[in-house]
Amino acid sequence: MKCMSYIQCIFFLILLGIVLSTYFLQSGVLKRKIVPSLTELQPTESCQGAELTKQFETDELDDLLERRTKEFKQHQFRRKTNADIIIAPGNSPLQYPITGFKVAPLKKSIIPGLALQTQGRGKNEVYKVSLSVKKGVLSVEDVLDGDQVEGQSQNELTISSTSRTHLNDLLSRVTYTSTIYHIKTSDLVNFSFEDHEAIFPIMIRRPSVPFLYDPGKDVNSQVTIITKTFLRYKELNILIESIRKFYPQIKIIVADDSLNPERLSGNNIEHYVMPPTQGWFAGRNLALSQVTTKYFLWVDDDFVFLNNTRIESFVEIMEAVPDLDVLGGEVMGDQFYFILEYDEGNESDGGCLRRIKEVHQPLLGYDGCFLVDGVINYFLARTDTVRSVGFDPFLKRVAHTEFFIDALGKLLVASCKGLSIGHQTHRANDKYYTYRNQGKLEEEEKLAHHFFKNYLNYIKY
Ligand SMILES: *[C@@H]1O[C@H](CO)[C@@H](O)[C@H](O)[C@H]1NC(C)=O
Ligand SMILES: *[C@@H]1O[C@H](CO)[C@@H](O)[C@H](O)[C@H]1NC(C)=O
Ligand SMILES: *[C@@H]1O[C@H](CO)[C@@H](O)[C@H](O)[C@H]1NC(C)=O
Repeated sequence: MKCMSYIQCIFFLILLGIVLSTYFLQSGVLKRKIVPSLTELQPTESCQGAELTKQFETDELDDLLERRTKEFKQHQFRRKTNADIIIAPGNSPLQYPITGFKVAPLKKSIIPGLALQTQGRGKNEVYKVSLSVKKGVLSVEDVLDGDQVEGQSQNELTISSTSRTHLNDLLSRVTYTSTIYHIKTSDLVNFSFEDHEAIFPIMIRRPSVPFLYDPGKDVNSQVTIITKTFLRYKELNILIESIRKFYPQIKIIVADDSLNPERLSGNNIEHYVMPPTQGWFAGRNLALSQVTTKYFLWVDDDFVFLNNTRIESFVEIMEAVPDLDVLGGEVMGDQFYFILEYDEGNESDGGCLRRIKEVHQPLLGYDGCFLVDGVINYFLARTDTVRSVGFDPFLKRVAHTEFFIDALGKLLVASCKGLSIGHQTHRANDKYYTYRNQGKLEEEEKLAHHFFKNYLNYIKY
């Protein structure tokens, strides 16, 4: 087109741009594609990186989102706790257990601490309190003739007396029995007197049985070394030899999905041969499933024990800080660790997750140790808790952070400087690298997996 002058031409183009984009935005054509509501989708810094919805065609996405939302709601339902916010009223004469009262399902328990703390009043005035619950029944133990108790063994109980002392005596014998069997749920008690009202939770929990490991007398009865191998027998044999130099007795478990498995020789080695190319996490799971000690030490098949590789140093810290589940060391001086920045999703949008090289806090009392969310491939861990998270066998080749994503909020993880192991120098092994290197397709499958499984919309490693 012909413009009168340079300036006019610019004005014209800007005007055209505004008119057109307004039209398209209003008609909805541009909304999703050109401005993919970035502000909506990026509520915080952690919403960056791969946009996982891009893994899917538009027509399959709607269905997928529907299924994902349904599964997410079920997940939330299963995970629910006493998350409701309960506000305690001011100046209430009602005394009650604010939190922490726990009962077994279907079992009768006295509710501790119930009382009315109010000023004395005129003779013959009646004190009257009520209690009500939703998932159980209430009663007063050992009621005598003349006690004014209404609603025994029902979900609403009223107790009256002209004596506050007597009323409090009755309140000290109030019991709760849940009537709907569940292993992990809660009820709310509504406790009221005149216009005062208090609400408090009762946790209903089926007690679980402990699973303890006898630590025995030394590191051999406390720790199992586990690894997964694939087409790397040279490396594996060097690793085993190096372990035996320092730990001649300790049990070693090897999961092996090589194409043509070779025999491993040596005592106290359990060699599990899997179908070929089952993958990295499937192998970790298999090895872990066979551990019978309190802890296991994860090593890669191409590591090598050095003079200063001391499993005992890990055990010492784990024993001193029993809350810890995973303790990472360093490989050839590399103390790799990270934290995960995570924005939970809500019912309409998936969350965002970002890996960053930071620590949460130092681990008090241990120089060079930090609380983190993920560590290097060399760590000591509690067998029972890591088993409850597991290694997702969907992840076949390159996967490491993925385990720590699954463990987020479930395992307490730390990393320590100075707990070292060596790494063997890389050998040429074309066959191995052909399999190991993650194809583009597999990478995309992994992103799609995060989208559904982790209820994420964005991920950044
Ligand atoms: C608690 O119980 C009192 C007395 O029965 C009732 O007036 C009140 O509405 C109840 N409050 C709630 C939150 O259910
Ligand atoms: C490890 O210790 C052995 C025996 O104490 C010694 O011969 C060897 O040189 C040491 N190796 C290193 C790398 O320090
Ligand atoms: C869900 O989260 C997104 C992004 O933070 C927000 O825009 C949206 O309003 C939220 N929806 C609900 C139902 O809370």
